[in-house]
Parts: sequence; structure tokens; C-alpha cells
Amino acid sequence: MSTIKPHGGTLINRVVTGEARERLLAEAAELKSITINTWTVSDLDLIGVGAFSPLQGFLNEADYTSVVDRMRLSDGTVWSIPITLSVDEAKAAELVVGERAALLGEDGIIYGVIDIESIYNVDQKHEAVQIFKTDDLEHPGVQKLFSRPATYVGGPIQVLNRPRPEKFDEFYFDPAETRRLFAEKGWRTVVGFQTRNPVHRAHEYIQKSAMEIVDGLFLNPLVGETKSDDVPASVRMKSYVALLENYYPADRVFLGVFPAAMRYAGPREAIFHAVVRKNYGCTHFIVGRDHAGVGDYYGTYEAQDLLRSFTADELGITPLYFEHSFFCTKCGNMASSKTCPHDKEHHLTLSGTKVRALLRDGVCPPPEFSRPEVAKILIEGMSEQPVG
Ligand code: ADX
Repeated sequence: MSTIKPHGGTLINRVVTGEARERLLAEAAELKSITINTWTVSDLDLIGVGAFSPLQGFLNEADYTSVVDRMRLSDGTVWSIPITLSVDEAKAAELVVGERAALLGEDGIIYGVIDIESIYNVDQKHEAVQIFKTDDLEHPGVQKLFSRPATYVGGPIQVLNRPRPEKFDEFYFDPAETRRLFAEKGWRTVVGFQTRNPVHRAHEYIQKSAMEIVDGLFLNPLVGETKSDDVPASVRMKSYVALLENYYPADRVFLGVFPAAMRYAGPREAIFHAVVRKNYGCTHFIVGRDHAGVGDYYGTYEAQDLLRSFTADELGITPLYFEHSFFCTKCGNMASSKTCPHDKEHHLTLSGTKVRALLRDGVCPPPEFSRPEVAKILIEGMSEQPVG
């Protein structure tokens, strides 16, 4: 069974185990250390397990500049989001190029080590405009970027401890595992679906449209850091399980999480999401309306246009593009402008704000918008969280 090649050709594995790990842990305890937050722990781990292949570490200066300005690593491989490690000035002054440093979580765990290749200052405004197409501090990705120091440390890493999920650990799979599992299922073609939201009928419609032409669906919700008004991952996970149980054939769907942070970088993040899903073994990847977008920063189909600007060889994974989808009361089914001739007044569209307000009031959105089993879980989830 042939599986799709990872991005860059080789699935990276920088997780150290056994005696080598024991030795390196002992060494790390004596090294200078860089404290990393949960976001960076997740990036470190995703590099280690090969989800971010071909990255072997946090971007060094040459790769960073190339990714920011050309959307490629310095060897020409397509890469759209800088994966970086930032340190404050005092820490930067302590560190030395050529040395190894320990990567210490805020919980005191040594998650890994980095072999320092470069220590460099960046122009975050330039990074923001290149990656997010704006330097507006209202943009959650820009806000996050500016909250970090502007000195970055780059170089290959090794992972010594893995972050442990508190919940839903049965849905955590490394790329090597998903690749093996897809092959065992006999799936030659697998479509990946990124989401940071509950799966509503429009999501279900585009997933199932894709499922008509591929062997399996990899429902791969992002469960790393998201902005505070997104539905928490723990609630979403319950809703995915309920949805799959009730509406999907069990042998054609695989649910596994993507433990990365959400960047909200729209088009650039769509490229990133696609190549990462290739590393997990997907051959196809769904890109619908305003993929990974937030507010009005990106055009509805800008992510699709950016993906189209790369050749099939450069991406290696086949994007499946979908129009904005909705329920049409005249058609009596889900549709898009590609399949429905009726006026907008017949289309059921609900804004995120409206849906949140309904759920907060304990009211299920119409079943044409969201499956009742999903709505019920979201309502329960809402009542468990403080109103933000
Ligand atoms: S995202 O930030 O993870 O992209 P979301 O979870 O809403 O947000 O979207 C997941 C995927 O579904 C993306 O590819 C997005 O473009 C697509 N999508 C979401 N809503 C619709 C819709 N109504 N019609 C078509 N595609 C959609």
C-alpha cells in the first residue's frame, strides 16, 4: 500500500527514547534553559513527531526570512507559517550560538533541547503584515505575535518529554500512527478536514461531498490554543463524537486531533494546514469559505486562490475547494451557488454571533443549521462556561 510522501520527502522523528533519552535528560538538567509556554510546547512536540516535516527545529534566521518573504524554506520547499521560539533580551544575552539549551515548560518539565544555530532580532510589524496581511492589534494572531519578544532562537530540537493531554487522549495520534492506520484500513485516498468549530451542517455537507470521491475522512479538529470566544476543544470533542455516532459510517471516518495552536492567518494558514495534513497521511484536503479566517481580514476565497498559486508537485496534497454552503429551503437540501438556483431569501444562513446567542439562551438552532445532537452538547457546554 503506497502512502503519500511527507512534505519534503521524509517523516521527521526527533523524539528521543530509551537510554539516549535518559542521557540527554541528565545533560539537559545541567544546561542553560529557555522557558517555553504551552503554545511552544505544542510546536516543539509537533516538530518532534514529524507533523511539521520537513522542519527539524525552530526556524533559524535564513529559513525565517525566507518563509516570511517567500513562503518557502531557504531550500525552496513551500512553508507558509514561521514556527519560531522567542526569548526575551536577558535570555538572548545568556545564550550562545553553537551551544545546546534545555527547553523547560512552565510546569518545570524539560520537554526537549535545542542546538542553537542562530539568535536573531525580527521586525514583528513586517512579520505581521506578511503573515496576517495586517498589523491591526484587533487581529488575534497579530496580538499574539506582538505579545512575544522580538528575539528568536533557531535550530534543530530533540523531544524528551511529550505533553500529556488531560482529556480525550484516545484521539491523539502521531503522523506515523495515522499513516499506519489509514494503510491498515485500506484507504488509498484520505481527505483531511481542519476545524476549530463544532461541525455544523455546512461542514458536514462539504465533508460528505468529499467522502463521495475518496476512501476515508480524517476529521482532524485543531485542539491547541484558540481565541477565547471559540468553543472550547473539550466541548467540541463531545460534539464530534455524537455527530459521528449518529450521522457517519464508522468505517469511513477517523477522528483524531491536531494539537496545534490556531494562528488565524487565513490564506497562509490554509497552506500550512494542508501540508501538515499531508504529513498525517492525507491525500486530499478540504478548503471551504474563509479558511482559518477571522473577522473581515481575508476574502471569502482568498485561501483557495493562494493554494492555486502553487503547483500540484509543490503542495503534494490535493486541495478540494468548496463554495460557501447553506441549507436552501426551496431545494430542501444543503447546497451552494454551484448547485442552487434560488434567491438568497431561501437560504438559511446564521452568523456565529447569532448561533452563540441562541445556544446561550438554551435554544437549538434549526436542524437545517446544526444537528440536534450537536446543538444539545453545545448548549450544555455553554452553561458550563462563564459568559464571555
Ligand atoms: S477554520 O478556522 O478551522 O477554517 P471552521 O472550523 O469554521 O474554521 O472551518 C473548517 C473548514 O470548513 C474550512 O475549510 C472552512 O473554509 C470550511 N467552511 C466553514 N463553513 C463553511 C460554509 N458555510 N461553507 C463552505 N465551507 C465552510
